[in-house]
Formats: sequence, C-alpha cells, structure tokens
Amino acid sequence: MRCDLTGKSVVLGVTGGIAAYKACEVVSRLRKMGAEVYVIMTKNAAEFVQPLTFETLSNHPVVTDTFARPETWEVEHIALAKRADVFAIAPATANILAKMAHGIADDMLSTTVLATKAPVLVAPAMNTGMWTAEITQENCAVLKKRGVQFVGPDAGFLACGDSGAGRMSEPAEIAEAIAALLCPVQDLAGLKVLVTAGSTRERLDPVRYMTNDSSGKMGFAVAEEAMKRGAQVTVVAGSVTAPIPAGCEIVRVESTLELYEAVTARAPEMDVVIQAAAPADYRFAVTYTEKHKKAHDGQPFVVELVENPDIAAAVGAAKKPGQTLVGFAAETENLHANAQKKLAKKNLDLIVANDVSLPGAGFNVDTNIATLITADGMTECPLRTKKELAGDILNKVIELRSK
Ligand code: PMT
Repeated sequence: MRCDLTGKSVVLGVTGGIAAYKACEVVSRLRKMGAEVYVIMTKNAAEFVQPLTFETLSNHPVVTDTFARPETWEVEHIALAKRADVFAIAPATANILAKMAHGIADDMLSTTVLATKAPVLVAPAMNTGMWTAEITQENCAVLKKRGVQFVGPDAGFLACGDSGAGRMSEPAEIAEAIAALLCPVQDLAGLKVLVTAGSTRERLDPVRYMTNDSSGKMGFAVAEEAMKRGAQVTVVAGSVTAPIPAGCEIVRVESTLELYEAVTARAPEMDVVIQAAAPADYRFAVTYTEKHKKAHDGQPFVVELVENPDIAAAVGAAKKPGQTLVGFAAETENLHANAQKKLAKKNLDLIVANDVSLPGAGFNVDTNIATLITADGMTECPLRTKKELAGDILNKVIELRSK
C-alpha cells in the first residue's frame, strides 16, 4: 500500500530486544511516507541501539527512561499520548505486553501507551518459549480483546539460537500495518451497505416477550468497518446492548415482522446486505393487549407459536444483479453442513458460520470464531475480535464483487 502520511504522527515505542535495530528501518520507512515519528525508548532498548540513531532518523528528540528531566516528564508523556495518530511498539517484548495487559505504568513507554486514545499496534519479538508461554498468550488475548492490533511475530531463526515463532515481522510489514491504520482502505466507497444487528422481541403481552442473547456487537462491528472503508451504511437494529454506531442511518425495530418490513423495503437499493441479526424464528399466535393474568389453578399455560418469515431468504429470492448478500449461521452442531444448506436456501453469496456454543464465539462477547463459506470454498477465521472478523467479511465481499 502506498499512502501519503503527511500530517500524521506516529509514536513508536522501542523496547529492549535485539530486533530494536530493525525499528530504525520502520522509522525510516514511515518518514519516507511523510509521517512525523516520535520515538520512546525503554532503558533496555537504549542498550541495544543508541538514541542518537533514532533521533537522526526521526528528526525529533528521542524520549528515553533516563529521567534526566523529571520536571518535564509528566507533561511530555501526556503530550506524546495525545499527539499520536497511531501508537506502535516494535519490538514489543513479553514484558511490555504484560504491563499493557495489566495496566502497569512504571516507565515512560508504559505510562504513555496507557494514556493514549490512539489505535495501538504491537510487533512482538521474543524467544519462542516466552512467546508460547501461557501467560504471554493470555496477555495477548486480553490486548486483542481491547482492540490492540498485532503484526507478527513471524517464525524463523531467532537471535538466541532457537528456531520458532517469536521473530519480529519485517520492518516493511510493520510500516505498512501502521500506514493501513492511518489511511484506511476506501474500497467500499460508493457502495450502499445494509447491516442487520441485534435480537428481535416477540411480545406475548405488554410486559412479556421472547428473545435471544444477541447484543448487536457483531452487526455493529461490520457497520463500523464498512463505514471506515467508505460505504454508506444503513443499520437495521433490533434489541441491542452494544453502543449504537455513529455516522450511519439507524432504523430501529422490535419484532421479526418489523425487521422483515424494514429490510425488504430497503434491500432493493443496496449493493451489499449483511444480516448479522438474530431474528426470532417464531412469534406468539395469540398476543394480549393487557397483562395476561396468571390462572392460579396450577394448570400449564400453553402458548402456540407461529413461524416468522425468513428475511434473508426473502431478500435472496428478490436478489438483483450486482448485489452481494451475506448471512450468518448461528449453529451448535454440524456447523459447516448446516451453514452450507442456509447459503443455498437463502440464495446468499457468503455465509459466516459461527459455532455459538464455543467459548469466545457467538452471542454477547467481543470475539468470534467463524468459517466464511461461499459456493467456492471455505476460509477459517480462528478466534479474533468481532472488529477483525468484520474486516475479514468485508474483504471477502470485495473479493466476491471483483469476480
Ligand atoms: O449480536 P452479538 O451478541 O454480537 O451476536 C452475534 C450473533 C451470534 C447474533 C451473530 O454472529 C450471528 O450468528 N447472527 C445470526 C443469528 C441467526 O439468526 O442465525 P440463524 O442461523 O438462525 O439464521 C441464518 C441467517 O438467516 C442469519 O443471517 C439471520 O439473520 C437470518 N434470519 C434468520 C431467521 C429469520 N426469521 N430471518 C432471517 O433472515
């Protein structure tokens, strides 16, 4: 990716590892793209590479942990935290990852990264044993869940003589990942995208309803990523607990019938329809306008359910040329086979199959585990944030539309 980073500020944290020398090239590449780069080095990093090298490459003073100027330190770390459009750490040792995961702020770098509101990206580098250690992996999972982006580590020959995962990604790859955060791809520009999110509620009476655990997190993540990539987004949301995204048209519905009306009315003018909502498949055959009284005779209260219309199938049946239709499949068994049946039955181009019985997947969590299934094949998406999965889904949509 070539992008002009003029006017953008990158704060680059460098921690103590042999890969610190490779961070020099990261600075140099970012500068060539036009970015201002401010380097913070830990005390240990300064043992590997002289701060003067980074100062010369970045053309800015390098902040180190010598505490030479304690009176300005407090101000300086907040200023850098605020100045960052992206905060990157390369190499990121097991130590800094652990500190970040647990909110420990005991030096300039850990203090500044804790204070920043900018997107944070880390390029881990360490011995294989340290990288694969359960505690490091747990710390990384915590950071990923909080939205920290990772580049690498790669596998290969390590400076300690071992071979395996733990080598810092190449400087070019790190610089590209930083650039991608600073000038996001606009590959959905000009496209109208409709996303459904959340659960529907089927009312029995004014105080009782039937629903499910969908929070809206998955659908909203798709909507937010689509907006970032330039799409004009409409979200049709049922009942949700996740914060509603800004910058898109929001249509609120309660029942599956209302969702059906809202989606089928808008779908014909959409380029892409992505149905992440979990609509109730059934509604009550009889509903009450007043609170239904308890019988007090110990007899069971039998209710009859009638099937709701299938919105995805209706949109699929009316699919227009040039439209891309994406559905989700929430399964607890036979994930791939069941999802493939839904892909065909609903005339979808892509189905995102998630086994909602797995920890870290499905309803009301920030992560998901999915398989992207098209008529041509499958792509596995192991545990990742819903934001990351949203990116994968949109990449697949772009791929399908370019065929
Ligand atoms: O909202 P979150 O808490 O983040 O949870 C995310 C999620 C688990 C809800 C999401 O990842 C997901 O799996 N959504 C689909 C839930 C669902 O209804 O799955 P399904 O297999 O029953 O339906 C298949 C597809 O048909 C879905 O795209 C669904 O939106 C659609 N559908 C279902 C029923 C119906 N009456 N009409 C439909 O259009």
